[in-house]
Amino acid sequence: MPFTIPKHIAIIMDGNGRWAQRRGYPRVFGHVRGSSRVKGIVKEASQLGVKALTLYAFSTENWSRPEAERKVLFRLLKKYVIREGEELYAENVRLRVIGELERLDSDVREVLNNLIQKLSGNTGLQLTLAISYGSRTELTRAAALFAKDCQEGKVRPEDMNEALMEKYLWTAELMDLAPVDLFIRTSGEYRMSNFLLWQAAYAEFLFLEKHWPDFTEGDLRLAIEVYNKRDRRYGGVKP
Ligand code: IPE
Ligand code: IPE
Ligand code: MG
Repeated sequence: MPFTIPKHIAIIMDGNGRWAQRRGYPRVFGHVRGSSRVKGIVKEASQLGVKALTLYAFSTENWSRPEAERKVLFRLLKKYVIREGEELYAENVRLRVIGELERLDSDVREVLNNLIQKLSGNTGLQLTLAISYGSRTELTRAAALFAKDCQEGKVRPEDMNEALMEKYLWTAELMDLAPVDLFIRTSGEYRMSNFLLWQAAYAEFLFLEKHWPDFTEGDLRLAIEVYNKRDRRYGGVKP
């Protein structure tokens, strides 16, 4: 079997708070350390030839966290976007954001939009940040958009199929890269937490005990090795 690089890797970057608390620091320190890991992982994915990387940065459910913690998270996000722009450009990375962007503060939206624009001509790794993202919101919104298009006579109910459904999802622009091949979650939690429910329907899952601030480029390479030992049958049988 040849060694294959998964085309689309999705990561739930979890465990920042526990990483910090275990060391006697406030939770937000874990976010600082966690966010500093993103740069290296993006670069490694790019250099390994991964085509799409989707990172769960903030969920719809994370709005329930204390305002002080939310503030730190968005400040770190802004910092990452401002600081890494040049390197992402040099690395030929293209950026997208999925989620309820209308809920973000305008300054956060602005720095994101600027970088998305700057990287829009790039053709390498397709980096997607999931911010205020939740699959259930994505799917209900898709249903509403489809209903509206039916009402306006643009499509008919009988046109709905899986390919058309995908055009209504936030990941539509990824096209054939939208299905997740390898789904990684750090921090020892074995759940999806509302991340890419549709897109990960046939993903290979890897749950790691490590917390996100400890996740290294080597861990990403190991995850890809594990992925290579999986037998993806898609419901079929081997000839
Ligand atoms: C992941 O770490 C970061 C976000 C959810 C934004 P957590 O903050 O969830 O850390 P734990 O899981 O509580 O340790
Ligand atoms: C999922 O982690 C969201 C992100 C990592 C951005 P959470 O820590 O919010 O999820 P739960 O609470 O463990 O399900
Ligand atoms: Mg968590």
